[in-house]
Amino acid sequence: MQTPKVTARAHTNIALVKYWGKKDEQLIIPQNGSLSLTLDHFYTDTTVCLDDNATQDTFILNGIKMDPTKVTKFMDLIRQQANVSTPAIIESVNHVPTMAGLASSASAYAALALAGSKAYRLELSPKDLSRLARRGSGSACRSIYGGFVEWKKGYDDASSYAVPFIENPTWDIKMIAIVVNGAQKKVASRAGMQTVVNTSPYYPAWIKQAELDLENIKQAILAKDFTKMGQIAESSAMRMHALNLSATPHFNYIEAQSLVAITQVEELRAHGIECYYTMDAGPNVKVICQGKDLQAILAKLKQHFADEQLLVSAAGPGAKIITS
Ligand code: ADP
Ligand code: DP6
Ligand code: CO
Repeated sequence: MQTPKVTARAHTNIALVKYWGKKDEQLIIPQNGSLSLTLDHFYTDTTVCLDDNATQDTFILNGIKMDPTKVTKFMDLIRQQANVSTPAIIESVNHVPTMAGLASSASAYAALALAGSKAYRLELSPKDLSRLARRGSGSACRSIYGGFVEWKKGYDDASSYAVPFIENPTWDIKMIAIVVNGAQKKVASRAGMQTVVNTSPYYPAWIKQAELDLENIKQAILAKDFTKMGQIAESSAMRMHALNLSATPHFNYIEAQSLVAITQVEELRAHGIECYYTMDAGPNVKVICQGKDLQAILAKLKQHFADEQLLVSAAGPGAKIITS
């Protein structure tokens, strides 16, 4: 029998209502439900090949051999289910800056869940694939699907997974990622949200508000109410960053150039061009807008940022196998 070798591609997703905190750190069960848009511009390609002669996994990221510990922990979940102990060679290429708040962990673990499960001959349903991806990185459970995706928080391993909300939106929504700094962040998402859950006095209010935001943004998306959707997304992001400032020790992902980007969006809005910003665990700003306004918004942003810092996405597809 030929050694199984499978390549999968998954796109990143950006949350409009953020996931920021776990109820169960081991199983990655979130404190609140979240909702995201999968993006067509940023993705990860991951190849998994079983390695009969090896005693441990090999992990190569963007052509560089890396410490496989975290990836091995994830692959062990697959191997347990498949009842196979053979190590693997995992080769991954990020078409997205790694660990810069542009959701590389989402595309990474969605691609690895798909390529890994297929390489070990598991036939997982989309729901079980989402549950598996969640174990690598919470946000990855949403990258199994395209378009608008909801992560149902659930209460245990079986009940916490993403579902498509609108997989093929007919809405002409665009997201401009303003890459103000593509370098790796100092505080990983995992550590940041853990500090917040453990120490922020505002955390109970966050959970309550996030659940309201989730219900309201779903209504806004169904009604194609761009204003309402944008306002909720912007507020959710800023509340998340406020939590970070309220933690002990406090920390912050917002940089000077992030504020320049935010100010541009607010000025555009003041001039009647509707657009909203969101930010994840990193300094890069994403601008949500409608296709009809894209060129006007880019023209304004180009006064402050180079062309290569402005990356435009539309809604992207779910995870898929490229070769097997
Ligand atoms: P991001 O904002 O990019 O999602 P995170 O703070 O969530 O950053 O951390 C990224 C995590 O994902 C790190 O542990 C990093 O090593 C891991 N990662 C990134 N890309 C890959 C990949 N292609 N395959 C496996 N792990 C990856
Ligand atoms: C700010 O999914 O990267 O992007 O589950 O610990 O791997 P882990 O964290 P991760 O956190 C993402 C946080 C966020 C918001 C979001 O994507 O919902
Ligand atoms: Co991440």
